[in-house]
Amino acid sequence: MRKNIVAGNWKMNTTVAEGVQLAKEVNEAVAAAGELKCDVVIGVPFTHLTAVKDVIDIEKVGLSAENCANKEKGAYTGEVSAAMVASTGANYVILGHSERREYYNETPEILKEKVDLALANGLKIIFCCGESLELRNAGTYEEFIKAELKDSLFHLSAEEFANIVIAYEPIWAIGTGKTATTEQAQEVCAGIRACIAEIYDEATAEAIRIQYGGSVNPATAPDLFVQNDIDGGLVGGASLKADFGKIVNYK
Ligand code: PGA
Repeated sequence: MRKNIVAGNWKMNTTVAEGVQLAKEVNEAVAAAGELKCDVVIGVPFTHLTAVKDVIDIEKVGLSAENCANKEKGAYTGEVSAAMVASTGANYVILGHSERREYYNETPEILKEKVDLALANGLKIIFCCGESLELRNAGTYEEFIKAELKDSLFHLSAEEFANIVIAYEPIWAIGTGKTATTEQAQEVCAGIRACIAEIYDEATAEAIRIQYGGSVNPATAPDLFVQNDIDGGLVGGASLKADFGKIVNYK
């Protein structure tokens, strides 16, 4: 039986001091809540990883980078490798976010390289996929999402694939305040699971956790997170506020 997983994605927000404060608050909220229905992860800027690691109980609050390089090491000024991320004590990395695909031209091939390096360095991956409004309206979103997964993930063995969390994030719902309906989100997450069953097997598909992301808030989370194929969420804006404590403590 899979356990839900809720991850915060801070994006390019907070100074180190603010981030440490926020991480402390999340850590306290999780400790105070006792038994939660989900695993909790916070995705923070590279600059914050080491300091945040020191103020959280990593057994209870997972720590994620928001990206890593597609090269192992060397003359790539400004890049941060998967090995560097792992050396901070972080245990996750978010890859394939639509903002990185769109603004930083991350192609499926680049993402595939990042996936391989992250896994080689022992990181679990929150791998984002999701369609634009145009594709949603054209009705071709399922094929598009499956292609995103195929191009960057389906070369993995079933054993490697067990380290992946998939985050379905329709681009039109990110930061827009427009959450997908539970039916829309459930439909796509079920389609992703069926596709994984086809490519791998039933057991792999049943075990993989598939999050929904896009304007998740304390009001929309409970209904989304109890859907059969939605196993938690990737939370952007609301992860910077006390709302995150409410979201991970959904009833
Ligand atoms: P949002 O962001 O919750 O602010 O829509 C989600 C994400 O981009 O991961």
